[in-house]
Amino acid sequence: MNEKTILQFERIFPGIWRARVCANTDTGGMGTSLTAFYKHEPRTEKLDSLPEAGFPFDGAPGGEAFCQSDGDAGTVICLPLRLSERLYGLGLNYQRLCVNYAARQLRCDHYGGQDNGRTHIPAPFYVSDRGYAVLIDTPEPVSFYMGSSVRRDAVNPPPEIHRFREKGWSAVTPAEYVEASFAAGGCDVYVFAASKDSKSPMRDAAARYNLWSGGGFIPPKWGLGMWQRVSGYADGEDVRAEAAAFEEHDMPLSVIGLEPGWQTAAYPSSLDWDEKHFPDHKSLMAELASKGIRLNLWENFFISEKSTLYDPVSPYCGSHKVWNGIVPDLGSPEAVEILSRHHKKLAAEGVSGFKVDECDGFDGWLWPDHASFPSGLRGITMRAIYGAVLQRMQDDAFRSLGRRTYGLVRASNAGAAHLPYVIYNDCYSFPQFLTGTASAAFCGALWVPEVRDASTPREWARRFALSALSPILMLNAWASGAKPWKFPEIEDTIRSILRFRQSIAPALYNAFRGWYEEGIPPFRPLCMDWAGGASEKGGELDDTENPYSLGELLDVTDEYLIGRDLLAAPVAPDSDTRRIILPPGEWYDFFTMERVENSFTREFALDEIPLYVRGGAVVPTLGEDGALVLRCCGREGEGIIYDDDGESFGYERGEYSLIKVIFADGRADYTVESHGYEPGYGDLRFVFSRD
Ligand code: GAL
Repeated sequence: MNEKTILQFERIFPGIWRARVCANTDTGGMGTSLTAFYKHEPRTEKLDSLPEAGFPFDGAPGGEAFCQSDGDAGTVICLPLRLSERLYGLGLNYQRLCVNYAARQLRCDHYGGQDNGRTHIPAPFYVSDRGYAVLIDTPEPVSFYMGSSVRRDAVNPPPEIHRFREKGWSAVTPAEYVEASFAAGGCDVYVFAASKDSKSPMRDAAARYNLWSGGGFIPPKWGLGMWQRVSGYADGEDVRAEAAAFEEHDMPLSVIGLEPGWQTAAYPSSLDWDEKHFPDHKSLMAELASKGIRLNLWENFFISEKSTLYDPVSPYCGSHKVWNGIVPDLGSPEAVEILSRHHKKLAAEGVSGFKVDECDGFDGWLWPDHASFPSGLRGITMRAIYGAVLQRMQDDAFRSLGRRTYGLVRASNAGAAHLPYVIYNDCYSFPQFLTGTASAAFCGALWVPEVRDASTPREWARRFALSALSPILMLNAWASGAKPWKFPEIEDTIRSILRFRQSIAPALYNAFRGWYEEGIPPFRPLCMDWAGGASEKGGELDDTENPYSLGELLDVTDEYLIGRDLLAAPVAPDSDTRRIILPPGEWYDFFTMERVENSFTREFALDEIPLYVRGGAVVPTLGEDGALVLRCCGREGEGIIYDDDGESFGYERGEYSLIKVIFADGRADYTVESHGYEPGYGDLRFVFSRD
């Protein structure tokens, strides 16, 4: 190994530092940044207004952060670690949250049932409960050793312990560094820190990262309704029939998703409307729009010879085909421009968004790592950026029309919080769907636990309830052709779940506003708010009222927070009974508005959804009559309810309204602030909790 070079960090925003590790090898014309391929500008004004924070590695026991570069053999970045630290992140994971001692080679891939680094979001990013986060910004695949490998030159090496005669031996010897290595070239190392007095240091460090990424996005309001993806065989008439059937069954419907069959070629794709099966797609979309229903189109980007895109894009495609289609070079501005023009046209005709499929992997489905592309990018780099660049291309297309989009994608990467997409896949494990909903927050992303099918009414209802508490409520019936009323005996239950989703839309919308404005992930695990904070240090933890160990709380993988004030604890299909753990402080049942214990076990009927509200909160919901119903929980509290037009980018220009509420002892006062936009709700009503 070469000499150690101490990383020279420069402060670029309050609480954000960057160290540039220079390339010593030309790795194929891609420079040294992964995120530069698709990232939006940082939210400069917002970041500049945040308090300063202490640099987390000052005074670290193992010394300073450093790198070692061995020319072609690779680059190693070493970041100090204290033995007591808990680490989270390393891309999208579905089973565990904490990644201490993990050794992972991050690589974009379909989830294969293991949290092993092959993931839909291989973000080279982690968060520490000490209140800082690190991003290794390189397009190369990064291997991480999360305190699992002790260096011979360690400053504080762990003591040697006789495995059979002494206590304290462990299979892993905790190391004083996180080590990250990649094949060749330079990178930017970013450190994001929470301010010293932060009560949720992990959340606040991650929030700075998200604001640096461009801030989270606010989806269009229609995106928070019910999505139904129809069978791949469906034609225009089937789509009309689908919309009519939802009306007949009195079930709300916001988006219909078409699967590959909308095109003249599928696998490979043409991305052109099949006029035979959709003879009048423009009037179809107009008809749907008049009923408040949007259309989303499935796509993959392996282009068929039958496509109108084939000839123009062919000179800008890679060396290999996928599913017999040519692969556009997303490092080539010409290719991106051709795709962008095509998508602008589809969007202008009325399409609301896309489902960008199969950009993640399974090695057999994608081009090989050694594939070459005209821009000079290698296959391995293309794989790391593909999903995110496609999101950016489409987001830009919709932006140019002044309309927000909201879509689905199967691959993304670091720094993509601003891109209005949600990750999905072909796995169908309920517990993993649940954990993924929470853990996506550790890479600035969102995950959709979609409903596909079920073998029992109970499973059907539980899956809908989970989906209703996620970024997109969706039945993906591409293969099953299932409808929400699949089990007549629980049709009422499903209808009430869909209506419940409608009723919490303002709360979800406000959670997204927190993501855009403050970088706080709208869906996140409990540990993100609670690890390392004042309560863990003893400040707020009351061992009479909260007689559980906070350690347990930090490992919870089957509950998650929504926005500032809600906690969801979906029930798994295999049992009607579950244990609920609520963080320190007062919590209320969302439905009954009654105070609940911080830890309890009970049975939940199929139409009961475990959702809890933090004491002191005001949660905006939609009444059946269209009124804005503000649920005030606790003896006193306050809240700010955000609203905007739900469609345009006016909110980015400061056009929105705020309702500021203060309540105490069953009475509430409020003021309305309109910034170029009047609140779009009907009457305003208050509901108070019962203590
Ligand atoms: C899969 C995708 C499914 C469905 C299918 C259509 O890759 O995950 O949701 O779209 O392709 O062929």
